[in-house]
Amino acid sequence: MQNKVHKKPPNQMREIMTQMVSSRCLSIAAELGIADIVGNEAKSIAQISKELQLNENALYRLIRVLAIQGIFELDDNKMVSNNDVSYFLQEETDGSQRNFARMMGSPWMWKIFNNLEHSISTGDSASEKAMGYENLFEYFKKDSPKDGKVFSQAMSSFSYSFDKPLVNAYDFSNCKSVVDLGGAEGQLLKVIKQNYPHIKPILFDLPHAIAQAKANDRDEVLEYVEGDFFKSIPANIDCYVIKYVLHNWNDEDCIKILKKCREAISSNGHLLIMDILIKEDQPQIFEKSLDIVMLLLLGAKERTKQEFEELLEKAGFKINNVYPTQSPLSIIEAVAV
Ligand SMILES: C[S@@+](CC[C@H](N)C(=O)[O-])C[C@H]1O[C@@H](n2cnc3c(N)ncnc32)[C@H](O)[C@@H]1O
Repeated sequence: MQNKVHKKPPNQMREIMTQMVSSRCLSIAAELGIADIVGNEAKSIAQISKELQLNENALYRLIRVLAIQGIFELDDNKMVSNNDVSYFLQEETDGSQRNFARMMGSPWMWKIFNNLEHSISTGDSASEKAMGYENLFEYFKKDSPKDGKVFSQAMSSFSYSFDKPLVNAYDFSNCKSVVDLGGAEGQLLKVIKQNYPHIKPILFDLPHAIAQAKANDRDEVLEYVEGDFFKSIPANIDCYVIKYVLHNWNDEDCIKILKKCREAISSNGHLLIMDILIKEDQPQIFEKSLDIVMLLLLGAKERTKQEFEELLEKAGFKINNVYPTQSPLSIIEAVAV
């Protein structure tokens, strides 16, 4: 039986019906950069609205909705200050959520959400219906590189904040080489290398992503391999990591990727899937909401341990262990059968 969050029925319903207000207000606050404007000193609503040329009373009401939910402090004199939560709306904060909040409120995201009914009827992504492109990335490339930039900044800042907790949760001591499949900029590998200097870190990604990673690599600690994980994956590496990638793909594609991993992996190698694990007996409101976003955007999903088990089994793997981490992601250690 699922662990539910209970409140009094009509209030619970009203709160859920108006959650879009909070989400949109948060997104606008992020877009306007209010947490950065406030910085370390309290500022009045009047000052902020003047600086940003906003309507003072409307801004007050927006901040009020956020402050009652713990985002920003707002006092009786209408002075706004940052707190532990709004701190993460600042652009330069390590683990900043600013771009994720901007992305969730972007007009393109809302356009896709307007087509939720389509996804619920079909089980498919709503991208094509909403944006005219089967692949959301085509939309970014052709119609709006600006939205694409916010999307990739949101994804990286969100995902990179998990790297340290992930590396802390797993003992890589016995690995001589680690390849990160779809490793983007190689941030995770850099954290692994910092903690385990003996490891050879190999970044595997599509050619354009490798070119970008190389251009941004000041430490020069990584080895690079260009490729497509649907076609071929480097062989005979001790440890294969695939972080925050499988949730982008439907089951059929995941099995194809995992089969390619199975072809590459030697009998004593292992595969670490780093992804959200859906637990039916826990509320996980964030994770289960993100699952709906994955459906809408990509026709993809967040998965339970059993769902991963079934995919792995079809590709010739079994689960050896599951490691929880101090992040929303878990590590599933799989070995060849
Ligand atoms: C959601 S990002 C995850 C990035 C990174 N692992 C992280 O956790 O931040 C997906 C990554 O998979 C890469 N990718 C997508 N399709 C791929 C393919 N067919 N072969 C290799 N990499 C691919 C993308 O370029 C991107 O870097």
